[in-house]
Amino acid sequence: MVNTVLDIKNLRKTYPGVTALDDFSCSFTKGEVHALIGENGAGKSTLIKCIAGAISPDSGTITLDDTAYLGLDPETAKTKGIEVIYQEFNLVPSLSAAENVFLNVKTSNGILVNTRQREFMAADIFKSMGGELNPAQPVWGMSPANMQIVEIAKALSRNVRLLIMDEPTAPLTIKETRLLFQIVKDLKAKGVTVIYISHRLEELFEIADRVTVMRDGKFVATKDIKDVTRQELILLMTGRVLNNNYPERRAVIGEEVLWVENLCGWGVEGVHFTLHKGEVLGFAGLVGAGRTEIMSVLFGAFPKTYGDTYLRNKKIHITSPRIAVKNGIGLIPEDRKYQGLFLFQSIRWNITAGIVKQLSKFGIVSGKKEKAVADEYVTRFNIKTPGVEQLVLNLSGGNQQKVVLAKTMAAHSDIIIFDEPTRGIDVGAKWEIYKLINELVESGKAVIMISSEMPELIGMCDNLVVLYEHRQTGFVPKSKFSQEYILSLASGGPEEGICGKN
Ligand SMILES: Nc1ncnc2c1ncn2[C@@H]1O[C@H](COP(=O)(O)OP(=O)(O)OP(=O)(O)O)[C@@H](O)[C@H]1O
Ligand SMILES: [Mg+2]
Repeated sequence: MVNTVLDIKNLRKTYPGVTALDDFSCSFTKGEVHALIGENGAGKSTLIKCIAGAISPDSGTITLDDTAYLGLDPETAKTKGIEVIYQEFNLVPSLSAAENVFLNVKTSNGILVNTRQREFMAADIFKSMGGELNPAQPVWGMSPANMQIVEIAKALSRNVRLLIMDEPTAPLTIKETRLLFQIVKDLKAKGVTVIYISHRLEELFEIADRVTVMRDGKFVATKDIKDVTRQELILLMTGRVLNNNYPERRAVIGEEVLWVENLCGWGVEGVHFTLHKGEVLGFAGLVGAGRTEIMSVLFGAFPKTYGDTYLRNKKIHITSPRIAVKNGIGLIPEDRKYQGLFLFQSIRWNITAGIVKQLSKFGIVSGKKEKAVADEYVTRFNIKTPGVEQLVLNLSGGNQQKVVLAKTMAAHSDIIIFDEPTRGIDVGAKWEIYKLINELVESGKAVIMISSEMPELIGMCDNLVVLYEHRQTGFVPKSKFSQEYILSLASGGPEEGICGKN
């Protein structure tokens, strides 16, 4: 076919105990935005790594421009105009935006690196993307959105024909997402093919032309986006029907467990709230509003500069995470790859790391008990793995996330802080996490949930604290929840109900 830019036939990739790609076939046409969806561990990242030449398939072919390859190498993939933007960006923090865009590219005829020339050219690309990034600015300290712009500019400078994006909107604000969609639409108009991986199904209806569903490494279906509904996509991905987005909760809100008064630290100021037994308290705000920072201060991972914390009506000085954990406070971090997990240890080791003492007798850890606990969580969260001895490093992104959740759950905290608990998690598992949060509060625990997904906050929380530019701009009870109102507070609109003490 004339319009096919990439044709994949019978691709197979196995790891010990796992078939990541199972006879997978699919083709991509010129100038389309083709979404790739599937549950955590379905094989999406494995597929794009094969296309980019980062790994070799066991068998099958990848056809580009009528040449069939058994496996590509990164060099060939690049020459053919294939560029991938992985979720963990591939930038050099100490270099400027322009230097990153033209890394490994000779811009003048000689070997001489011409900084000014690079900056001019990078500025041109940034402008064509509708952004106003300063090319001389170092990548270090940039917002995720700007880093992504640098990544895309890098691809554009190399005459990209096939751009692959793995969950590009996860770290972006609503406004930045709009800019990204515009960039994608412009690329499409220029004939670039975009393969777009996302767990946010709503986005696909706005940006994609076609969608391919994968399950257990297999091809399930390719559909025109205008011919499917969200429910149908969920059915294709998971094999089951999900009618409600949020499971029912029967928690009773009880006595106050935590009172935070005018907490300041890590650049955030004036945060007040109370948290009760049985309550899910949400933290809303745009990316970078200071939600993660203030929770790190509360958790003792960062020093506080001012303010008081009362736990069960007693003043408490949380000066380290160890003290927080000892007092029954658990935190599931946003950046789980670096903070939450030991990648070179097994699932069993990671899940039980915090409860080794409970599982030991006379100082000897019971491997059997460890395995039983780990097995229980693997089943409960449907962690896709051949067994609990698998190294966490080898799990798919979403499954690693589930291990962090399991680890914190196993530690039996009374107050659990979830920072973006469903980022990168597939729809089915999202529902499981919501159910788990419900079970926690139904059993009398209290939950704090930071999320950038407004529907999730509205669907799950009893009250909301809103932050804007490192300070609290609102405390919103459920009776006043509305997307517009919360967004206006999160964008610095008129402040209201600052104090959460009641
Ligand atoms: N290096 C590896 N060693 C062992 N197993 C692996 C390795 N890489 C991937 N796998 C397994 O292959 C399967 C597919 O993983 P992949 O990362 O492609 O999933 P995914 O669809 O991208 O999921 P997610 O939505 O969670 O990112 C998973 O079961 C994963 O554990
Ligand atoms: Mg993945």
